[in-house]
Amino acid sequence: MAHGGRRYARRVRILVTGGAGFIGSNFVHHLMAETGHTVTVLDKLTYAGNLASLEGLPADRYAFVKGDIADAELVDGLVAGHDAVVHYAAESHNDNSLQDPRPFLDTNIVGTYTLIEAARRHGTRFHHISTDEVYGDLELDDPARFTERTPYNPSSPYSSTKAGSDLLVRAWVRSFGLQATISNCSNNYGPYQHVEKFIPRQITNVLRGERPKLYGTGENVRDWIHANDHSSAVLTILERGRIGETYLIGADGERNNLEVVRAILRLTGQPEDAFDHVNDRPGHDLRYAIDSAKLRTELGWTPRYADFEAGLAATIDWYREHESWWAPAKDATEAKYKAQGQ
Ligand code: NAD
Ligand code: TYD
Repeated sequence: MAHGGRRYARRVRILVTGGAGFIGSNFVHHLMAETGHTVTVLDKLTYAGNLASLEGLPADRYAFVKGDIADAELVDGLVAGHDAVVHYAAESHNDNSLQDPRPFLDTNIVGTYTLIEAARRHGTRFHHISTDEVYGDLELDDPARFTERTPYNPSSPYSSTKAGSDLLVRAWVRSFGLQATISNCSNNYGPYQHVEKFIPRQITNVLRGERPKLYGTGENVRDWIHANDHSSAVLTILERGRIGETYLIGADGERNNLEVVRAILRLTGQPEDAFDHVNDRPGHDLRYAIDSAKLRTELGWTPRYADFEAGLAATIDWYREHESWWAPAKDATEAKYKAQGQ
C-alpha cells in the first residue's frame, strides 16, 4: 500500500469507524466523491449515529456494519479485511461527559485500544481523529495558538479521554511500530451535525421559534472549520502524511460564541439580541486556536470554505430544508439541557 509521501496508487479498502456520525459521514461522502476506494462503516449507532446521513451511497463501494469498536472479535475481523482504518468513532460531547463520563472511557479509551491492537496485529495503516481540546485552553488575549508541540492539558472528561486515546496511538507507534498518523482538528460545523452541539442547537432553536442559549457571557472563542475542509485534510494526511506524525487541522476561523449567535440571528432575520444567557458549563474552556502551518507547508493542504458567514448561511439553509433529519432528536436534547438549566 502506498502511503507516507505518495497518493494511494490503487483502490484500497477503508474502514471508517463512527461513519454514521457528523464528521465521519462527511468523510465517507468525501471518499466517494474524490476517490475510487471502497468503504466499510463500523458504527454502534448511539444516539449520535444516524443512517440517514449515509443515504444514497453506491452499494458496490460501501457497506455498513453495526457494532462497537470495543468488541475485539468483531474489530479484529474487520481490520484484517481492510487496508486502512480511519477512526472517528467517539463519545464527542463535552456536556454529556460532565453528566456521565463512563461511556467516554469505554469508547474513546478502550475502543481506541481495541482498534490499535487489531491494526498492529494486521499491520494496517491507521489514522486517528482527534481534537484540539487535548491542549486545554488559551487566554483570550494570548497571541499564541496551538501547535503540534503544545503540551497536553485537557479540561473535561471528553477531552481527557481523547488525549488518552492520542497517547495510546503515539505509544503504539513507538513501541510496536503501528503505522499511524494523528490529526487534531478545531470545532467543526456544517450539515448533519447533531442538535446537541452549539451551532445546530441555535439554528434549530430559531427555526422552531425558540431563542438561542448562550453559556455564560459568550466570550468563549472557538476556531470554526467547515466539516468538508476537515475531510479533505484527513484524506491528505492518509495519503501523504508521515507515519508517526501529528497534524493540526484548522482554518483560521476564530469567533466568540456571542458573535456566532448574533450571526445566526442576523442571517435568520431576527433581532441580534433575541437570545438567552443560560448556566455556564463547569470548567468551560475559554479559547481554542489552531496553527495549521505544518499541514499546509508539509502536505500542501488549504481550506476551501474560508468564508465563515457564507458557510454558516449555507448550514442554516440545510437545517431549514432537513427538518425531518433533526426533528426526532430535538425534544429529547432540549429536555436534557433544560434539566441542567441550559
Ligand atoms: P458524533 O457524536 O457526531 O459521531 C460519533 C459517531 O461514533 C456516531 O455515529 C456514534 O454512533 C459512533 N460511536 C460512538 N460510540 C461508538 C462505539 N463504541 N463503537 C462504534 N461507534 C460508536 O461525533 P463527531 O462530531 O462526528 O466527531 C467525530 C470524531 O471527530 C470524534 O473522534 C471527535 O472527537 C472528533 N472531533 C470532533 C470535532 C467536532 O467539532 N465535532 C472536532 C475535532 C475532532
Ligand atoms: P460545543 O458545540 O459543545 O463544542 P465544544 O464544547 O467542543 O467546543 O460548544 C461550542 C461552544 O459553544 C462552547 O464554548 C460552549 C458553547 N455553547 C453555548 O454557548 N450554548 C449551547 O447551547 C451549547 C451547546 C454550547
